Amino acid sequence: MFERSRKGEHALLIQPVRGGAAAVTGDEDAAEEFTELARSAGASIAALVTARTDKPSPSTFIGSGKLDEVKAAADATGADLILVNHALTPGQERNLEKALERRVLDRTGLILDIFAQRARSHEGKLQVELAQLRHMATRLVRGWTHLERQRGGSIGLRGPGETQLETDRRLLQKRVDQLQKRLEKVEVQHTQMRRARVRSELPRVALVGYTNAGKSTLFNALTGAQAYAADQLFATLDPTVRRVNLAGGHVVLADTVGFVRDLPHELVAAFRSTLSEAREADLLLHVVDAADPLHAERIAQVDLVLTEIGAGDIPQLLVFNKIDRIEGAQPRHDAPEGDLDGDTEPGTLGLARERVWISARDGVGLDLLQEALARRLGLQRICGEVVLPPTAGRLRARLHALEAVRSEGHDEAGWRLTLDMARTDAEKLLSQPGGDALRVLLPAVEVEQWEA
Ligand code: GTP
Repeated sequence: MFERSRKGEHALLIQPVRGGAAAVTGDEDAAEEFTELARSAGASIAALVTARTDKPSPSTFIGSGKLDEVKAAADATGADLILVNHALTPGQERNLEKALERRVLDRTGLILDIFAQRARSHEGKLQVELAQLRHMATRLVRGWTHLERQRGGSIGLRGPGETQLETDRRLLQKRVDQLQKRLEKVEVQHTQMRRARVRSELPRVALVGYTNAGKSTLFNALTGAQAYAADQLFATLDPTVRRVNLAGGHVVLADTVGFVRDLPHELVAAFRSTLSEAREADLLLHVVDAADPLHAERIAQVDLVLTEIGAGDIPQLLVFNKIDRIEGAQPRHDAPEGDLDGDTEPGTLGLARERVWISARDGVGLDLLQEALARRLGLQRICGEVVLPPTAGRLRARLHALEAVRSEGHDEAGWRLTLDMARTDAEKLLSQPGGDALRVLLPAVEVEQWEA
């Protein structure tokens, strides 16, 4: 039912530009990012045409002179698709298609297309289809209204046209209702799953960051899992959640969808579930492509989206990734006391952000990151010898399952174990039969608090 850009399409890109020299850098960045988006959708780039749109034309967005230039460039390069890096009204899209004799897609349509290709979970697919239907509904209804008016006086066209329109609207609404119901069900299931995780009281950490920063690669490196990582924008559309053992204890780690500048609002709403992982986290690992010359701007854009979804005040650890692409860069940990170029913790007054420099691909600096995480989440390790009574067989088995036992002996008092484990794990086991034996280790721990 829906047209999607097929792989191998040859696209001509139209990048709106503003007047004045100050705007140039921003426009160049926007054009580069748009080119990446188009490639992500599977298109090859035929040409990029910039168009001044200080006063966009209500009917065709770009002016008539520019329209001729685009048509000529499309003919010359054999482009079969026109992409416009701006939201178009349904009328503008239709008029452009007519004038250029090619399919035209605006920024929202393009991002939707990429989302459609990338959605993997049941919920993600439902969300994308719903967002597509809503995007299409405005086009269908307004498009047909326009035709209705045209056909108003034409004998023979009135009846069937209207009937078709009614049928289409009804079918569309039916599908929207159906999808909404299904989504509500899936969302309830997810909320229940999240509640269960909250009950388990494990600290929650979410990976956030600009698209392509390396979140999935880091997620894999930290969890040993093989979440999908590809050199494409939005490789991750659905949150992947894992319980992982980081230095000092267990945490729940969630990978989330990559952020992008000017994410259309209807899409932000459509991806509530993936973003709620970020909203409900105790700590955000904000992954940054350190080799990207525009990384400071990307950080600001991600912060903006986080604020929009109500996650602006959650503490962050900035993870500068891809240091292997910067000559001479070494893994490093900058504590907030250091000189951090005035970059501040969101929601605070001038508190600098903690940073860790790593290469997720090469697994370099992950130890620094794990230590920083453990400190930040107040996870501590306890080490020492305990004696478990002979009745504590189950507890002993649990300790082995947690890989907490460094060495083990047995005498008339029971099992003599040398333990090295997370304090939080030990605390949970206190209530087990024989668990009191672990108390000897707990008071001895020096409480190392993270100082904000
Ligand atoms: P989205 O799903 O679009 O949000 O992307 P992401 O942030 O999850 O990025 P992903 O992990 O998919 O990585 C994007 C690309 O960057 C892939 O080609 C990775 O191989 C590459 N990459 C990730 N980490 C590193 C790194 O440390 N060094 C280098 N050189 N490349 C990396």
